[in-house]
Amino acid sequence: MLKEFGPEIWTADGTNVVAALGFRYPTRMAVIRLADGDLFIWSPTALSDGLRAEVDSLGKVRHLVAPNSLHHVFIADWKRAYPNAYLHAPPGLRAKRKDIDFDDELANSPAPYWAGEIDQVLMLGNVITTEVVFFHAKSCTVLFADLLQQLPANWYSGWRALVAKWDLMIAPEPSVPRKFRLAFTSRGAARASLEHILSWPAEKVLMAHGTPVSENGQAFLSRAFRWLSA
Ligand SMILES: [Fe+2]
Repeated sequence: MLKEFGPEIWTADGTNVVAALGFRYPTRMAVIRLADGDLFIWSPTALSDGLRAEVDSLGKVRHLVAPNSLHHVFIADWKRAYPNAYLHAPPGLRAKRKDIDFDDELANSPAPYWAGEIDQVLMLGNVITTEVVFFHAKSCTVLFADLLQQLPANWYSGWRALVAKWDLMIAPEPSVPRKFRLAFTSRGAARASLEHILSWPAEKVLMAHGTPVSENGQAFLSRAFRWLSA
């Protein structure tokens, strides 16, 4: 189930989840192994015995990371499975999931545990969610949760297919869905975040819901966010 995505980074495709209005999404998580052998689990998907065994074979699960306030469905299961792991909340999730005991909140600069190996920036200015975007230096990979998406063209049917087309969820290239574009009400703040993201020497781009970009990541990101920078 785990697939090597680059040096010290793996992905796993999870089960589908159903979001608002019955929209079904595929899910994907990533595992990054830090220099000390600790594992950074990004956007954990449904935990199965098989996935757990594969993850355990890579190292010690130390960090459970929810990248935005919409990605929280499976983190409590992971915390139960790995009670000694640190649970990191994105902005807004602590208030939403008061039942979960988070260890800290992700900030606009990398946590000391992974500074120097993984950079991070808050994508500010959006009223739906404040996504934390990460950059894994060793594999030159940027990790997006929801702000970039690309589902197969036939993923939805009926009225949902029409909405998905309008929303750019099924565009020919991974795109920022229109609902998120409209929700960037503080464009100046968002542009400052974007400037940081575009400064990364990105080769690859991972998404929770979409086909990963495997080369020329920096140029892709510049295209994907042109509507914001213009
Ligand atoms: Fe999502």
